[in-house]
Amino acid sequence: MAAAIETKQLTKSYKARQAGTINVVDHLDLHVEEGEIFGFLGPNGAGKTTTIKMLLGIIYPTSGEGFVLGKEIGDMDVHRLISYLPERPYYYEHMTGLELLKFYGSLFGITDKAKFIALLEKVNLHRDMTKTISQYSKGMQQRVGLAQSLLNDPKLLFLDEPTGGLDPIAHREIRDLILSFRDEGRTVFISSHELSEVELICDRVAIINKGVIARQGKLTELLKGGRIEITAEGVPESLLKNLNLPDSNLRVLASGLMLDMPEENDPNGVIDAIRSQKGRVISVVPRRKRLEDLFVETVTVKGGKS
Ligand SMILES: Nc1ncnc2c1ncn2[C@@H]1O[C@H](COP(=O)(O)OP(=O)(O)O)[C@@H](O)[C@H]1O
Ligand SMILES: [Mg+2]
Repeated sequence: MAAAIETKQLTKSYKARQAGTINVVDHLDLHVEEGEIFGFLGPNGAGKTTTIKMLLGIIYPTSGEGFVLGKEIGDMDVHRLISYLPERPYYYEHMTGLELLKFYGSLFGITDKAKFIALLEKVNLHRDMTKTISQYSKGMQQRVGLAQSLLNDPKLLFLDEPTGGLDPIAHREIRDLILSFRDEGRTVFISSHELSEVELICDRVAIINKGVIARQGKLTELLKGGRIEITAEGVPESLLKNLNLPDSNLRVLASGLMLDMPEENDPNGVIDAIRSQKGRVISVVPRRKRLEDLFVETVTVKGGKS
């Protein structure tokens, strides 16, 4: 598959408060494939918005290069094929949802009312399209923003913190919409510091901290290394010890024994061994690594410069 976004050593520096300069985006190598949902994750101030603005050609890189849909960043032809939902979109509050789409549509020369209504239906706002933006909840404002970002039928969408400050139901609506974008063959680049939301929808992620990419890859790969805990009673400790499972720990609890082992191991073998000795399995609990864990690990251990 072709790359939707590629950056090579992309860097943005600003004058530091005291003296010299600071790289807020520091030699970034990003690779986003066409058709995927890519999560660009990091704490506040990590450099996410700055990166997006460079990719959009809104600000110039200090050094390095970047390509969006095969064109060098700043190439204006690409703008017809991409769209951008900023972190804090500013809309004219007195406009209705429909008027807002008409207004932005006119910037692309789109005047087809049926198209506006179809987009409002897609984001489930058709019943509210004559209400003004000031009457919209935060989730509705975000949804009208997504409708607006689809006006030019983009191949690639940049969504900067699309679920920031939303309640769980609104989160879910946005998440489902983003998944539908992928189903339509679009590439979606999402920045976020809210990991649990992104975890559910992203194919690949990059974790950025202080301008530096700490990890990048398939979520399934990055989240490898989970554990399984099996608790049992009525079995001798020696039975579980003799299984010789690598990288496993055996703990004696008041209620029995707890074996904690890597998730790659098949728990059925352990369960069979316990039952063959008339022991009783009390629980089998997978402890999947979560993106949250990875994020904390990455940001605290591999934190880069400070
Ligand atoms: N125009 C600017 N001048 C100086 N520093 C800036 C400017 N824009 C952003 N920064 C700094 O760059 C860092 C990264 O900001 P940003 O990209 O907005 O982070 P994020 O979107 O990940 O929260 C922050 O420390 C911010 O203060
Ligand atoms: Mg930001």
